[in-house]
Amino acid sequence: MHQFDTAAALRAARCRWPEPVVLVPTMGALHDGHRALVAEARRAAGDGGTVVVSIFINPLQFDRREDLDRYPRDLEADLASCRALGVDAVFTPAAGDFYAPDHSTTVRESLLTTHLCGATRPGHFDGVCTVVLKLFQGVAPTHAIFGKKDYQQLAVIRRMVRDLSLPVEILGGETVREPDGLALSSRNRYLDKDQREQAGALSAALLAGKYAAAGGAEAALDAARAVLDEVPALEVDYLQVRDPMLGPAPAEGQARLLVAARLGRTRLIDNIAIDVGASAGIDGHPRVGNDQNHELPWRN
Ligand code: PAF
Repeated sequence: MHQFDTAAALRAARCRWPEPVVLVPTMGALHDGHRALVAEARRAAGDGGTVVVSIFINPLQFDRREDLDRYPRDLEADLASCRALGVDAVFTPAAGDFYAPDHSTTVRESLLTTHLCGATRPGHFDGVCTVVLKLFQGVAPTHAIFGKKDYQQLAVIRRMVRDLSLPVEILGGETVREPDGLALSSRNRYLDKDQREQAGALSAALLAGKYAAAGGAEAALDAARAVLDEVPALEVDYLQVRDPMLGPAPAEGQARLLVAARLGRTRLIDNIAIDVGASAGIDGHPRVGNDQNHELPWRN
């Protein structure tokens, strides 16, 4: 496995890499969710292609200095994970090299970022778009994979790629969950024992909403809200139904139920695919549609 610390070194090597070149952008602290993305990247690249993982804690996307400072860092463990997963190259730029000290250009998507997480995290998605574009410039991937757990991020990046005509195909990786349904996230490690138990309510709420969605978007929201209300420690930031492209909730058809909530100082997000107005299937399970996400409660 090759490691590159600078974009210049990486660019010099890039022309020798067999395509497809599949990039997995990360901020490190790799967990099983990342490992699933890397495995998916490996499948997409095939035996002959190249899998690249970037590990870079992007200061531009943190709205609070405190969050940046406490973000988990363990480069040695991350490199060992990448090696074990058969990654071909890792890109580990230093913040000081990656951004010029007086950098003054950012990339802004100005529609999808006005709601959901964008409403309470000003500048966050500008930081994400900017770093992802810079990573694309450095790695020149044919494909890049982002987790569906950060569904709005995935939608915003797809929009940026379309709007800026970037020659990269964006893949969405499935969310990996703990046995109680909690979506894996680097932030889960901040939860104390009680909070960890309470955090299970997020995925339980989504599942309740998914089962109630046959009655419409409002029914899904009511069912999800009822579960969240049982945990007073959860400060809900938003609970919304949106269409799959994050437009307004459809009266019928495929949609996304999305939630963000704080437990103490830790902000958690999650989402699930739902069928609004779809008749429930056997045993009350939502029917299996052409979207593979509906096959099992936790395929999302
Ligand atoms: O999802 C993340 O870890 C980050 O937002 C990303 C895409 C690596 C950009 O810094």
